[in-house]
Amino acid sequence: MPDHRLTPTHWNPRGEAEGVGPRGLPVRVWGGIPGEDGSIKILHVGESSTAAKWRGASEPSAWRREPACDKWSLCGGCPLMHVTAGGQEQARRDIVARAFAAESLPVEIGAFHASPGGESNYRHVVKLGIEFSDAGRLRVGAWGRGDRHIVPIPHCNVAAPVLRKTIASLAHWVLTLEIWPWNPDTGQGTLRAIVLRASKTTGEVLVTLVAGKHTKALSELAEHLHDDVAELAGVWFHLNEEPGNAIFTRDGEGVIGVSPLSGRDHIEERLNGVLYRIGPGDFFQTNPGLAEVLFRRVVERLAPGPDDAVVDLYSGVGGIALQVGSKAGFVVGVEEVEGAVNRAKEASRLNKSNAEFQLGRVADVLPELGKRLARTRPLVTVNPARRGLEPGVVEAIAALSPSRLLYVSCNPRALARDLAHFQTLGFRMDGPVELFDMFPHTPHVEVLAALQGPAGESGGGRPPRRKVIRG
Ligand SMILES: C[S@@+](CC[C@H](N)C(=O)[O-])C[C@H]1O[C@@H](n2cnc3c(N)ncnc32)[C@H](O)[C@@H]1O
Repeated sequence: MPDHRLTPTHWNPRGEAEGVGPRGLPVRVWGGIPGEDGSIKILHVGESSTAAKWRGASEPSAWRREPACDKWSLCGGCPLMHVTAGGQEQARRDIVARAFAAESLPVEIGAFHASPGGESNYRHVVKLGIEFSDAGRLRVGAWGRGDRHIVPIPHCNVAAPVLRKTIASLAHWVLTLEIWPWNPDTGQGTLRAIVLRASKTTGEVLVTLVAGKHTKALSELAEHLHDDVAELAGVWFHLNEEPGNAIFTRDGEGVIGVSPLSGRDHIEERLNGVLYRIGPGDFFQTNPGLAEVLFRRVVERLAPGPDDAVVDLYSGVGGIALQVGSKAGFVVGVEEVEGAVNRAKEASRLNKSNAEFQLGRVADVLPELGKRLARTRPLVTVNPARRGLEPGVVEAIAALSPSRLLYVSCNPRALARDLAHFQTLGFRMDGPVELFDMFPHTPHVEVLAALQGPAGESGGGRPPRRKVIRG
């Protein structure tokens, strides 16, 4: 197809520069920059939008630069790598502003907190897939842009160096041991994904091999990895025979089942002096350096005191709850992954914190928790997954009569939707939202918003006494 001209007007949430095409439909330009008049190549004309890629501009945007990765366009994991740091900040501010505008929600976008270690080496979690290429070569790498074909990323410069080393060893041994990709249709092959997590504090690495069956070759792979990577703390196995793209599956009780291939079941991380334990299948923040900044701001804006009760919803391995720790009279985290709750409890004991943790889905746990918190006006923090708060959770939080609510979100659209919902129940924005550059080179950004609860009775009650005393 011949080249076309387009001046994209804005960033879309996928990190493509978007404009309007001749049919009035959006044109999504990979490698484009809003405001830059350029020539584009149409790749695919769909029913609701057209996919294109940037070809050139006579007057390149002041924000344009050469992407620092030869896999940039194939991998697609860093869609803003062709944009300067200043341009990336503006892109994220624009994406957040559009998300709030879509809900007709006035917002003040305040500080933008940069990634402390810069834009390279920040990623402490990497997920890899495995497949045969069209030419029959085995590939271990990232799921590529568009077609999701696997792209080897041995030099991925956003990954922590120790993860690059581990990825190189993994790719070598998967090939040498002839560990073939799992085919869910035929039940042949073995391996379907690999999840690597590194600690910024200790440099240790935890690897989870996700496979459709358990074979001896996986144990051999684990042994070779230990020989190559001194920092390797453990290698774990997770069985996933389900169709679809989800990496982890859960049993009927919601447990992510793992079994050891070698080593320990967790690594340790320390943020702002607080110790965490992270195991296979646990969520933990991608960019620990920036997570320290985020957690500091959460605690500062929450301003807990000894008479306060703090409820941390979607607490993972204790991220926010353990930072609040003994600054509040009572702290409880709620999380649905059992392993994460166990590690949060253990970390609480090791930190000598008073935070306790409750296993369960937020929507199920909140009504009972509300009874324990009756006559108090708790401080509430939420940090849900990308989809935001599930139906009923906004109302359940409102029923706690929180005096203040802090919402940490990795999805501005879900955040704006949920904040609009809170406002219909009498909550009011409390100061600007702050942006945290958790994922440089991507359109993703972590957003912190604060809300005041509706004015009401002061509560007057004391925080509840702790129910669970750990041994
Ligand atoms: C974005 S993470 C936040 C973790 C934590 N705040 C941190 O900073 O490490 C979201 C967490 O919510 C958990 N989760 C997702 N849906 C849930 C639900 N309905 N009820 C309880 N926990 C849930 C996930 O397992 C994950 O640990």
